[in-house]
Amino acid sequence: MSTAEFVVVANRLPVDRDADGGWRPSPGGLVAALEPVMRKADGAWVGWAGKPDLELEPFDNDGMHLVPITLTADDVEQYYEGFSNDTIWPLYHDVIAAPRYRRAWWESYVSVNERFADAAASVAAQGATVWVQDYQLQLVPRLLRERRPDLTIGYFHHIPFPAYGLYAQLPWRRQVLEGLLGADVIGFQRVADAGNFARAVRRQLRYETKASGIRVPEADGGSRLALAKAFPISIDAELYVELAQREDIRARAAEIRAELGNPKKILLGVDRLDYTKGIRHRMKAFGELLEDGRLSVEDVTLVQVASPSRERVGPYMQLRDEIELTVGRINGDYDTMGHTAIRYLHQAFPREEMVALYLAADVMLVTALRDGMNLVAKEYVASRVDNRGVLVLSEFAGAADELGSALLINPHDIGGLKNTIERAVHMPGAEQGRRMRALRRRVREHDVEAWSQDFLAALDEASHAGGHR
Ligand code: F6P
Repeated sequence: MSTAEFVVVANRLPVDRDADGGWRPSPGGLVAALEPVMRKADGAWVGWAGKPDLELEPFDNDGMHLVPITLTADDVEQYYEGFSNDTIWPLYHDVIAAPRYRRAWWESYVSVNERFADAAASVAAQGATVWVQDYQLQLVPRLLRERRPDLTIGYFHHIPFPAYGLYAQLPWRRQVLEGLLGADVIGFQRVADAGNFARAVRRQLRYETKASGIRVPEADGGSRLALAKAFPISIDAELYVELAQREDIRARAAEIRAELGNPKKILLGVDRLDYTKGIRHRMKAFGELLEDGRLSVEDVTLVQVASPSRERVGPYMQLRDEIELTVGRINGDYDTMGHTAIRYLHQAFPREEMVALYLAADVMLVTALRDGMNLVAKEYVASRVDNRGVLVLSEFAGAADELGSALLINPHDIGGLKNTIERAVHMPGAEQGRRMRALRRRVREHDVEAWSQDFLAALDEASHAGGHR
């Protein structure tokens, strides 16, 4: 097998196998962010093709060398739906849903992480750089170091890392920390996430930490230095600028407005259908504004795109039922023949259609209860080449650390959220422009390329300087 100097290891490949044996882009922000990085690096990408029991040989797709990992139906149930998305996901998002701690799921997580580490070890060239991604693969850095001590290993954590009081619930809390500490650099979205991680390491493992450095003891009695630091992820901002300037996409934005009956204002929510996103809180606030008569369906429509996600995991099934009940109730109460309160779309759309929607939307609602970053907020901002539109952004999304010129909200405070939505709907053009310009400056200066360069430069430095002592 040919080897690569640069290897990305992620739960998913950038493409998913569809029902007719074709390929479509994988869901989520991780793939969207890493794809442009990979295209330039000419490396290999190790991941799962999104369907159980698929056995595929490595292949090239769109300029990338893809190395598929087979997950059996049992692996999907226990490693992916179970431990990754019914244990770690809710625990790391501040237990918005109750995490379930199942020993069989943990065993499956260990064995699938071993499989990813084996694949990465066999595709990486001597002395290569391997960049492991996200919470599904927290054990891979250490497993990989055991197999290939010559490699430089980075890990990026796309979701929050919780406060120690919550993290301590995890029955396998030591093993997970030890797994992550196999990396030379462990990247987080927010400074607070890196701080929570360092605290867990001190409390659980009693390792010495200083600024961003963690002294990791080694079997030979020596030690090495690992770096745990914030590197906020971003988007390919110029791509969104280009799409937003395309004639056909601008025409589509106008068409969307017309299809919605040309309301005075369009509010927009775009999320994977996930309980961390605060979709219910958003709908409650909007429904109450209609009930109070502070907004009217003649003037304002909420478009909610909720793309299907993790549909066999219990809390996700429950959430879908609750949201669809809420949409039905609000629309039943307030729709007229010509106007709808909420246009709800349980579908995923191509990027072009999303940019048209961003251009059509006067107010973007990001009301996450907890979110690693939230790239939708950045996509909206990058797309607003007209310097118009208002971003309402939860302070519990990582993006709030950078996007301070948005209208920041606490989604739990429904009264405050209602006031802010109303303010956003009525915000004068000059204030929209002032805020949007500041937001756009940040997103364009700190794009995904800057993110990956920062991370990879830190990794390069750490692998040279970190060394043994
Ligand atoms: O961005 C966070 C994340 O959990 C990614 O790790 C993941 O790829 C994406 O959301 C989508 O989730 P899933 O792969 O479970 O569909």
